[in-house]
Amino acid sequence: LNVPDLIRTKRDGGEHSRAELEALILGYTRGEVPDYQISAWLMAVYLKGMTPQETADLTAVMAASGEQLDLGVLPRTVDKHSTGGVGDKTSLILTPMLAALGLTVAKMSGRGLAHTGGTIDKLESFRGWTSELSEERFVAQAHDIGLALVGQSKDLAPADGKLYALRDVTATVDCLPLIASSIMSKKLASGAHTVVLDVKVGAGAFMKTLDDGRALARAMVDIGTRAGRQVRAVLTDMDTPLGHLAGNSLEVQEALATLRGEGPEDLTELCVALAVEALAAHGEDQVAAGARARATLHDGSALAKFRAFVEAQGGDPALVDDPARLDVAPGRAEVTAPRAGFVERIDALSVGRAVLALGGGRERKGEAIDHGVGVELVRKPGEAVAAGETVVRVYHRDGRGLDTAQRLLAGGLGIADAAPAPEPLILDRVF
Ligand code: URA
Repeated sequence: LNVPDLIRTKRDGGEHSRAELEALILGYTRGEVPDYQISAWLMAVYLKGMTPQETADLTAVMAASGEQLDLGVLPRTVDKHSTGGVGDKTSLILTPMLAALGLTVAKMSGRGLAHTGGTIDKLESFRGWTSELSEERFVAQAHDIGLALVGQSKDLAPADGKLYALRDVTATVDCLPLIASSIMSKKLASGAHTVVLDVKVGAGAFMKTLDDGRALARAMVDIGTRAGRQVRAVLTDMDTPLGHLAGNSLEVQEALATLRGEGPEDLTELCVALAVEALAAHGEDQVAAGARARATLHDGSALAKFRAFVEAQGGDPALVDDPARLDVAPGRAEVTAPRAGFVERIDALSVGRAVLALGGGRERKGEAIDHGVGVELVRKPGEAVAAGETVVRVYHRDGRGLDTAQRLLAGGLGIADAAPAPEPLILDRVF
């Protein structure tokens, strides 16, 4: 295997064969190809792209880099994945909703990536909670509770685990073939029959335009369909963070409020819409599915599933009922409106970067994070504010990263004379 030759091929806009991708990716997964060569290759892919065939081959190689679960024994299996957003705690709410609706959720999740949060990091706000389950435990828990969630491990899509961490720190995240292969390799390896994808579009997403988002959605739906899965993608707005809170423990608190039927409207609407897609993929009527999905947030059934899930994976279920006990950083600071008017913009990318600066995400591979820091959107776009009124609240620990966070947040805040036209949250669907 001549790695410099492969890097050169991609650097010069050439195309890799499946055999070349297999040698490179499996060599990296086994530790035979070093990070620095893969970093250079990732950057070449970032700059030159990949053909649909290369993307499909890369996905298959990554999915086959470890075990591939056979969930054939479980009924109505479903998995969900977001392409990455800010304040996007949807998985924490949607997966127990789906379990309460009688589907079996067997999901593989990721950690935070660049300025976006990750489900595993959020769930680790429950001390003791683990994403490391053996295949037997994963399948047994999915069977018993209807919900099990694992991270990438040495067993499941290990190639994605390594590439994901390296991309995060080499500015090679926001790249269509790398995102599509990363997400779909996990989905293929973890075995669910139906996959619902939430493709984020806008300032805080990796795909900035609706056209790019559609192209990513189409690529992922095609990869999954060719592998015999039912895949549906919903394109959703990520110009503004979802809900009011961004940061790990804070997002868990907001997810728990939503599971009690007291969540913000945008977040609740998105969870219901994604649940409807999952149910529709299993043949259910859309209108009835919407009512059934919403009911799980009001009758306690989704919350009960979440509690059982946290406990089964080693977390303290008492925190589910007493979310105020989750560790939230004690420091508070405010970003205020520089003048009276209407909030026009709270840029999701600025909020995501502010959370990173506060220590809620990683700047280096494998770094420990502070689960308690974050940002609260006290006001959301469309709301009126007086001069000097608080728009955003910062939760910091001992002032770490506070100056940077405040500067980012102030820069991402737009105040207008008139209320902006409301933007739809759900932009399109692809399947
Ligand atoms: N989520 C993933 O799992 N992988 C990516 O590359 C981006 C978002």
